[in-house]
Amino acid sequence: MQYIQINGGKALDGDINIHGAKNSVLPILAASVLIEGESVLHNCPDLSDVTACLKIIRSLGGSYIKSDSTLTVRADTVNRSVISKELMEEMRSSIVFLGSVSARCGSACMYLPGGCKIGARPIDLHLKALKTLGYKITFDGSNICCERASAHGGNVTLAFPSVGATENIILASVLLDGKTTIVNAAREPEIEDLANYLNSAGAKIRGAGNTVIEIEGVSHLYSTEHTVIPDRILASTIMSAVASAGGEAVLKNVSCTHLMPVLPVFDEMGAVMYAGKNELKIRFNNRPKAVKSVTTGVYPSFPTDSQAPVMAALCRARGTSVIKETIFENRLRHASELMRFGADIVVSERTAIVSGVRHLHGADVSCTDLRGGAALVVAALGAEGVSRINKVHHIDRGYENLEYLLASAGADIRRVNDEKEQQTKTEYPPCTSRRGNAKS
Ligand code: UD1
Repeated sequence: MQYIQINGGKALDGDINIHGAKNSVLPILAASVLIEGESVLHNCPDLSDVTACLKIIRSLGGSYIKSDSTLTVRADTVNRSVISKELMEEMRSSIVFLGSVSARCGSACMYLPGGCKIGARPIDLHLKALKTLGYKITFDGSNICCERASAHGGNVTLAFPSVGATENIILASVLLDGKTTIVNAAREPEIEDLANYLNSAGAKIRGAGNTVIEIEGVSHLYSTEHTVIPDRILASTIMSAVASAGGEAVLKNVSCTHLMPVLPVFDEMGAVMYAGKNELKIRFNNRPKAVKSVTTGVYPSFPTDSQAPVMAALCRARGTSVIKETIFENRLRHASELMRFGADIVVSERTAIVSGVRHLHGADVSCTDLRGGAALVVAALGAEGVSRINKVHHIDRGYENLEYLLASAGADIRRVNDEKEQQTKTEYPPCTSRRGNAKS
């Protein structure tokens, strides 16, 4: 068992490289099984969810080679269409293999997906949409089987712009003999990235990033090369860390366009920001100001995945902030852990009222889920004294070596291997800080 130890209360100062987007690379890896050839994917983050995806690809008969952040996936050898319960339960995103494996192999059988316990997370929209495309679905509440035989494409109107359902429809329809239209599609940048990857392999997808997406089926997809977009959620987590700890960071390899939904919130918090080409400098000269109201929503509204880290930063704000979660019904569980640092938060249904306090103190806390875990790191950086963050496997699902990234900006942070009661021999990076070296 590992935990993260943070000696907080020290301002950040340095450059932080933003890795590729988790929510892009996962559907792209699921899409790679559609390609009878090689996908060379650059800027892939090293995450436990990516490892889980690669295990699925291998279980289907595919293979991959990893070289730094480049993954080369070969799917021409894919010859199996059943995904085990164990592999499906490793993450929620495994559900997008339903569309790609059914389309590639003619059928797919799998168990209900796992993932963060942030809500009921049904898959009704996915199944209804695939039925509309002509796929035959059998679902007993746990096992799902999907057959392509009579699938033809069609017009799907989503009752809600679900990210995963939009991806599944794209994956299920690119190889069909017919045209598919998705109305009320999700508009997240990761959808556009998936479409760009598939189009580079010969797919005909138009309108990704808008509410209507049109897919004209093609008979084959060919070998391709693609670079995954930067992770906007990692970027907003680092921005929250700067708000919490104070100081300055330059985020390298970001898309400022993709950060548009969060920039006004950081502006209201009093951040001084400069956007450059593929980089963003952010500085907090004082404790953040409170934010009147942050409400999560579908893109281009404020992302639900950034809600927990921003809440953590607002715990030390000057004044009272109101945060409303509209996407997932159980996504405020980190609030009670944040209160262990001395935060003043009142949760009522899907709303959290955060009354900023001048000081947080170190605490022994446990990650509730992926982004809730990142929120605890953010709070600990701004808390005075030593904090211990347990259940860090949640964080590793979506952040590649978060402690290394933060140490490179001067944070006093390390991962400890609890079993041996000694620090793991992680080589921490040289500090890019202009103040001095990171402690390692
Ligand atoms: C994706 C992201 C996740 C992000 C979320 C919302 C990935 C790997 N994960 O998750 O990080 O928090 O988008 O931006 O990209 N819903 C239904 N029925 C369905 C599908 C969804 O009711 O069939 C509901 C969900 O319960 C939830 C809402 O729709 O309340 C949003 O879910 P969705 O957009 O599908 O999120 P995910 O694709 O699971």
